[in-house]
Amino acid sequence: MSRILVRPSGPLAGTVPISGAKNSVLKLMAATVLAEGRHVLHNVPNILDVDSMSELLRSMGMSVERTGGHDLTIDRPAVVTPEAPYELVERMRASIVVLGPLLARFGQARVALPGGDDFGPRPIDMHLKGLEQLGATFSFAHGYIEARADRLTGANILLEYPSVGATENALMAAVLAKGVTVIDNAAREPEIADLASFLNRMGAQVLGAGSSTIQVEGVDDLTAVEHTVIPDRIEAATFLAAVGVAGGELTLQGARADHMDMFIEKAAEMGMRVSPTADGLWALAPERLRAVDVATLPYPGIATDYKPLFVALLAVADGVGIVTENIFSGRFRYVDELVRMGADVRTDAHHVVVRGRAQLSGAPVRAPDIRAGAALVVAGLRAEGQTEVLGAEHIDRGYEGFVEKLAAVGADVTRD
Ligand code: EPU
Repeated sequence: MSRILVRPSGPLAGTVPISGAKNSVLKLMAATVLAEGRHVLHNVPNILDVDSMSELLRSMGMSVERTGGHDLTIDRPAVVTPEAPYELVERMRASIVVLGPLLARFGQARVALPGGDDFGPRPIDMHLKGLEQLGATFSFAHGYIEARADRLTGANILLEYPSVGATENALMAAVLAKGVTVIDNAAREPEIADLASFLNRMGAQVLGAGSSTIQVEGVDDLTAVEHTVIPDRIEAATFLAAVGVAGGELTLQGARADHMDMFIEKAAEMGMRVSPTADGLWALAPERLRAVDVATLPYPGIATDYKPLFVALLAVADGVGIVTENIFSGRFRYVDELVRMGADVRTDAHHVVVRGRAQLSGAPVRAPDIRAGAALVVAGLRAEGQTEVLGAEHIDRGYEGFVEKLAAVGADVTRD
């Protein structure tokens, strides 16, 4: 098991290049199932989840190759094996987004049911309901969903909740359905708009992605295209949190301020100065931030993925802050790890109360998931002695060169 070692650091200074968005590229890769031929994706991050999705596409008979540092060339043959095996879905839940494209293009799919995880139960009922409204039928056996459909037909889909994955599955199925589909109460995340622009480039007719109502006019066929992935707003937020904890001044090259307005607003309330530049974001953090309250909500609210970062920021801020989780029922496991580092954090149902301390105390801790792992590294920047973050491979699922990027701006971080 690999680990990251962190020692007290700061002030940070310099420029961090922000990679392509994990939660966009995985869906774009799934969308390539929709069109035969050669697709090229640019700005693809070098992360384990991209390797997992590549493996899934290859297991279906597609060819996926890194052609240059951040380019991915995907060839979709005329026919694929429409199946997502358990070992791959279990490794990465996002694999479930191949269901919509497989059904739309091949009329059938066999996809392993994803289980729960550290975030609590993660049902896919809304994914299935949306696809059912387009005419799909499902049966369940031996831990797999077997889905069938003759040509899907456009329908009005009203999502009970603006689920990111359910919106993406419905959208990718609707582009090849016969007639018009309207997805209401759709998720509004920038990654959905990126997916829609990729689909439109392929020849789809999608309007309104990025708003709560997405309208899709089905087409008969799509063509393979090239596309550049949007920057990762969660990675950008992670580096803003790093400078917030350690102090200093950073430029985040390629970050999009308009994708992270609420994070920037909260960071400003805490005492940071953040402003857009021609090609990214600039941030200045004082010696110590002020505490604020934060509640997670679907976009454009504060992303649940930002939450561990806010808890780390508050752990060393001046004052008391309450963080409320409204998206997932779990996702608090890292709190116990932060407490082992001397943080004063109390959990009560879906709230955490954080009383800031001037400094934490380095300790061995375990990364429970991608974002919480990154937050533990960030917290270590203001922990006396050495913090040893075990399970660094969780961080590798979603961050390219995390340790190298931090070290390049002056953080005392190494990997072994
Ligand atoms: N939900 C249901 N039924 C469904 C689908 C979702 O009850 O059919 C519930 C979930 O259990 C959860 C809530 O709805 O309580 C939100 O889930 P959503 O479907 O929006 O999330 P997701 O698509 O599974 C994506 C990101 C997550 C991010 C969430 C929320 C990807 C690959 N994952 O997950 O990112 O936390 O949206 O914004 O896009 C990460 O990057 O590390 C990560 C976990």
